[in-house]
Amino acid sequence: MKFLVTGGAGYIGSHMVKFLLSKNHEVTVFDNLSTGKLINKNKINFIKVNLLNRKKLDQLMSKKKFDAVFHFAALSIVNESEKKPRKYYMNNVLGTKNLINSMIKYKLNNLIFSSSASVYGAPKTKKILETHQMKPISEYGKNKKEIEKILAQIGKKKNFKSISFRYFNAAGADESAKIGENHKPETHLIPKILNSIKRKQKKVYIYGNSYKTIDGTCVRDYIHVNDIVRAHYYGLKKFRQKKCILNYNIGSGKGYSVLEIINGIEKVTRVKLKIIYKKKRKGDPPILVADCKKIFKDLRWKPKYKNIDKILLTAWQWHKKPFI
Ligand SMILES: NC(=O)c1ccc[n+]([C@@H]2O[C@H](COP(=O)([O-])OP(=O)(O)OC[C@H]3O[C@@H](n4cnc5c(N)ncnc54)[C@H](O)[C@@H]3O)[C@@H](O)[C@H]2O)c1
Repeated sequence: MKFLVTGGAGYIGSHMVKFLLSKNHEVTVFDNLSTGKLINKNKINFIKVNLLNRKKLDQLMSKKKFDAVFHFAALSIVNESEKKPRKYYMNNVLGTKNLINSMIKYKLNNLIFSSSASVYGAPKTKKILETHQMKPISEYGKNKKEIEKILAQIGKKKNFKSISFRYFNAAGADESAKIGENHKPETHLIPKILNSIKRKQKKVYIYGNSYKTIDGTCVRDYIHVNDIVRAHYYGLKKFRQKKCILNYNIGSGKGYSVLEIINGIEKVTRVKLKIIYKKKRKGDPPILVADCKKIFKDLRWKPKYKNIDKILLTAWQWHKKPFI
């Protein structure tokens, strides 16, 4: 089959590309390389394009008929979205609108969208179901919510099928250690600590240790990047339905505190870290854990990486490489 992967040069997108190639599919990547880095051009059709360039998108779309589009392209630094809401709205919401309109023009109607747990905002329940209220507290989360709304509206009016996957915390790297997480700046806990260890720095900052959690530090749900990618592939079968406007959480359903993650990293890297406690950050919910009943049942998907130490090990095997 022929697939388009937007943002295929980024962290999760590059794992999607690798997975699709391993299944012998034909892969085209649209990416403007704003945060992504292209590693291996050999087997894919890579096109440097900004999703804000509608004219170029139309030209490209007119040339090839894709069976489905995996849409990962986005800016995703939550703090930055607060400081630059317009930049985020343009890139994420308008970029996605362009993509959808161009798809409709060239009669492509299957889209898998990277949404996020940030659409929920502060959780009202211990575990978050897809039916939980959507009250995002960041501009980034608002972008994701708005795109989901657009997809639902278009899906009702036209024959446009979509699946929005709301990822919790993507983590780990492909076991080949050839691709992995490499955001600049890095704001995610695991790669941030691994980067420090690589630079021989042992200080780790924890923001708040008086939350009502197992050890006072925040709890999050980590899901291996290749489990996320597999869920996307399983999602394709839903496009056989006449109508398809779906959303699913992707998480492990299990939470780990910041301290537990740090302990795991110490075990895997064999480096003892020096923990420094700082004040709580505004807007950090104490616990964010997915309820994944819906995806388990509907897509018959379950995470293969159930052990957090294994996830951390794959991340470390990638991070310790000299070239990143
Ligand atoms: N990493 C996570 O934990 C996480 C969690 C929830 C949701 N998500 C979502 O998953 C997707 C992928 O995240 P990631 O961590 O791989 O991010 P990433 O920054 O590594 O990858 C995003 C890619 O999109 C490209 N891109 C951005 N704007 C573009 C534009 N206008 N035109 C063309 N290309 C553009 C970038 O160059 C980059 O290669 C994003 O939509 C993100 O919001 C990620």
